[in-house]
Amino acid sequence: MTLLIKNAKPYGEQAVDLLVRDGVVVEIGADLTAPEDAETLDAGGHVLLPGLVDLHVHLREPGGEESETIETGSHAAALGGFTAVFAMPNTDPVADTAVVVEHVRRRGEEVGLVDVHPVGAVTTGLKGEKLAELGTMAQSAAQVRLFSDDGRCVNDPLIMRRALEYASALDVVIAQHAEDHRLTGGAQAHEGAVASRLGLQGWPATAEETVVARDCALAREAGAALHVCHVSSRHTIAVLRAAKAQGVRVSAEVTPHHLLLTDGRLTGYDPVNKVNPPLRTGTDTQAMREALAEGVIDVVATDHAPHASQYKDTEWAAAKPGMLGLQTALSVVVHTMVEPGLLDWHGVARVMSERPAEIGNLPDQGRPIAVGEPATFCLVDPDAQWTVRGAALASRAANTPYEGMRLPGAVVATVLRGRITARDGKVVA
Ligand code: DOR
Ligand code: ZN
Repeated sequence: MTLLIKNAKPYGEQAVDLLVRDGVVVEIGADLTAPEDAETLDAGGHVLLPGLVDLHVHLREPGGEESETIETGSHAAALGGFTAVFAMPNTDPVADTAVVVEHVRRRGEEVGLVDVHPVGAVTTGLKGEKLAELGTMAQSAAQVRLFSDDGRCVNDPLIMRRALEYASALDVVIAQHAEDHRLTGGAQAHEGAVASRLGLQGWPATAEETVVARDCALAREAGAALHVCHVSSRHTIAVLRAAKAQGVRVSAEVTPHHLLLTDGRLTGYDPVNKVNPPLRTGTDTQAMREALAEGVIDVVATDHAPHASQYKDTEWAAAKPGMLGLQTALSVVVHTMVEPGLLDWHGVARVMSERPAEIGNLPDQGRPIAVGEPATFCLVDPDAQWTVRGAALASRAANTPYEGMRLPGAVVATVLRGRITARDGKVVA
């Protein structure tokens, strides 16, 4: 299988042609000619990045197929420029055994549009009481490298300590949804002026900050790799900075929505804006952007959380938290990070591909665009503008907070090991 990519700008630099054979880049140069059997992709002078890698998505299968399936989620991922995603275990049944994680991985392979890596649960049934069999899942055919109780926090310090000790021995990562449930019982919105005015019970930022501080200490002691999911508070950044300076093996992610949206959107009580952790203040979004540019926050991860309308089109308190993210992530990063000059295209590749692949331990993703490397790419038209319509997104659910917004930057093609998986807004089956 041969693919010739014409007129692409790797990382936004000089335009080149790339010749791909059997999934690997074999030549990069000017005016390469297509061998007879070659498929051609005219890149139109657009920006070529390594395929995007998302450490945090909810694909809802098994058990939540009314909101998303591995198939529909894979479509959304390919259209969003992603070539690998990590699927969180809060499914039904929970992905806390080898059988379930192997099923998720196999379904991902059958669909074949994006590498689907199952995340294993840290505790059985996500109950926070008893460690799941991390070793069995890590050594299963699913090769689980990331464990998380996401949606819930591993709140018990003793369980978290044991999980980190196992993680260190197994060379896997514990991804923590940092939320002290004792501080967030009944919480509906960021604790602050907006929540008070709207009469919504507050989710204090300290519920995140204190868990991250505790976990960094436990990770240091265990010599384990800790990953902090969806950082939302500026105060957490100070904790991460201090831990990293001490050499703690900690990485962190921020979602596109915590880079862009604030609790100012809550005044209409539209549950599309309900998410956990909650949207915070403009001071927090600004701090997230700066921490991401600086590297204190390592990566962008979407926390793509599809919910069917029966879970979202209800009153605020009853609605499930979560927002779609896969098809809008790159555009939100362009808007919040590239346009203000906080990241260049190398920086985007770092936070959306290279670092996530390193943290998730994926040797053939997030690779440099170079001869001898896998042809796994995302092609971006940086000058395109598009209007988000939830109904037009590939996800089974439509709960996008960006409905009607005009966003910059469009993914025009995605390539996974030399195979085009999406092109001009359509999945290539
Ligand atoms: O908003 C969220 N939605 N936060 C989580 O932690 C879980 C997720 C979900 O599963 O819907
Ligand atoms: Zn979470």
